Amino acid sequence: MNSFISWIGGKKLLRKRIIEEFPEKYDRYIEVFGGAGWVLFGLEKPASLEVFNDIDSELINLYKCIKHHPEALQKELEYPFVSREIFNNYRDITIKGLTDIQRAARYFYLIKVSFGADKDSFGTNRKNLYTSTEYLSQISDRLKNTVIENRDFTQLIKTYDRETALFYCDPPYYGTEKYYDNNFKEQHILLKNVLSNLKGKFVLSYNDCEYIRELYKEYNTIVVNRNNNLVSKNGKGRKFGELIIKNF
Ligand SMILES: C[S@@+](CC[C@H](N)C(=O)[O-])C[C@H]1O[C@@H](n2cnc3c(N)ncnc32)[C@H](O)[C@@H]1O
Repeated sequence: MNSFISWIGGKKLLRKRIIEEFPEKYDRYIEVFGGAGWVLFGLEKPASLEVFNDIDSELINLYKCIKHHPEALQKELEYPFVSREIFNNYRDITIKGLTDIQRAARYFYLIKVSFGADKDSFGTNRKNLYTSTEYLSQISDRLKNTVIENRDFTQLIKTYDRETALFYCDPPYYGTEKYYDNNFKEQHILLKNVLSNLKGKFVLSYNDCEYIRELYKEYNTIVVNRNNNLVSKNGKGRKFGELIIKNF
């Protein structure tokens, strides 16, 4: 199935290729850098333990509300009125005392209505929030047995690591860290160190660059091409290289 949102660095176009690289057997699946979860939603069937994680607490609040209170969230989004003024208010004004569902609705609106899901600039393409809102029931159903976590990758990996685990890691790409709220720039080496000590298996996505090739040179690395979805506002998508790195 498809995700319910777009996300910067989302793996919509590459997920089929990534899943092809998964091992045949694993009994726990952990998506460490969740975002829009394109890979998780692309899996044919969930593992017996499935974990979805992201450090972005507003994003995780949205997932939790969809999972546990889809109808309340749909009601909150009942008359989604797309306008630049509302978008700017949601983006710029922090209201204290909102419920989790109200916060989730605002966050969903910002993702849906912004250009390229950047939550910052009002997008001018046609939007159908009604269809998007309806789809949340299916997402809720898909997530019914999924554990939703909101932790830093180091703690998360430590908690769920077993020999039978598969970790899919899609960190902020090298050089694109500024697109996400928390700064990942200093953490590429830390991630490599954590993954090097793993008992389980990992599949890791990265942009193809010398730095990452060198960092993971002892691992099985596959080079693939995809269209760039970090498009500039006036630019067209271009082909660029991606790495899929694995420890098996
Ligand atoms: C490239 S995106 C993941 C895209 C996702 N695979 C998809 O298909 O939409 C990277 C994600 O990592 C999250 N992130 C950044 N730093 C993190 C950290 N230290 N621990 C866990 N998640 C983190 C960001 O919030 C962002 O959602």
